[in-house]
Amino acid sequence: MSKVYVFDHPLIQHKLTYIRDKNTGTKQFRELVEEVAMLMAYEATRDLPLMETTIETPVSPAKTKILAGKKLGVVPILRAGLGMVDGILNLIPSAKVGHIGLYRDPETLQPVEYYCKLPSDVAERDLIAVDPMLATGGSAAAAITFMKQRGAKNIKLMCLIASPEGVELVQREHPDVDIYVAAVDECLNDHGYITPGLGDAGDRLYGTK
Ligand code: URA
Repeated sequence: MSKVYVFDHPLIQHKLTYIRDKNTGTKQFRELVEEVAMLMAYEATRDLPLMETTIETPVSPAKTKILAGKKLGVVPILRAGLGMVDGILNLIPSAKVGHIGLYRDPETLQPVEYYCKLPSDVAERDLIAVDPMLATGGSAAAAITFMKQRGAKNIKLMCLIASPEGVELVQREHPDVDIYVAAVDECLNDHGYITPGLGDAGDRLYGTK
């Protein structure tokens, strides 16, 4: 069974409060989502391997550590996942960015992929799939399935807010994928919104309400 990491860092929780607040405008919302994504990426990359190197400081030679060159990739689930990408790239500028777009077939209600472009060496990369809201979990689980079908092997899922239902579905369908969130809220309401949540993340990011 995969692990669920809920980040209780005070800065993340503080910023999440303003992200949730309905009086926060589009510009500030976008900036805060980016900042929280960066802070979450910092926490979610704790397990990156290091290797020793030798450098010269102005004072003396020094044996120090650098990242062991593991290749990373960020995969936003369109459209709201885009709001988290720049924050992560601020920390990990060498990461490649893939994109996955899904819609729900109105008859079968199954997620259908309408766009998928992943780094060509996807099998060798550690991937972080990002979507601010893990609601029913259907889109995230399907996106992870599509990534695996293209060869992805090592995937983490990073969301701002999850519902218990969404966490359960992703864990059931992808027991190898750890989930990183800033909060797990109470439930989904009758319209599929996470409650209390933050509303529609895509609309709030792009001012399309
Ligand atoms: N997607 C959103 O943007 N918000 C929710 O609460 C659920 C799904």
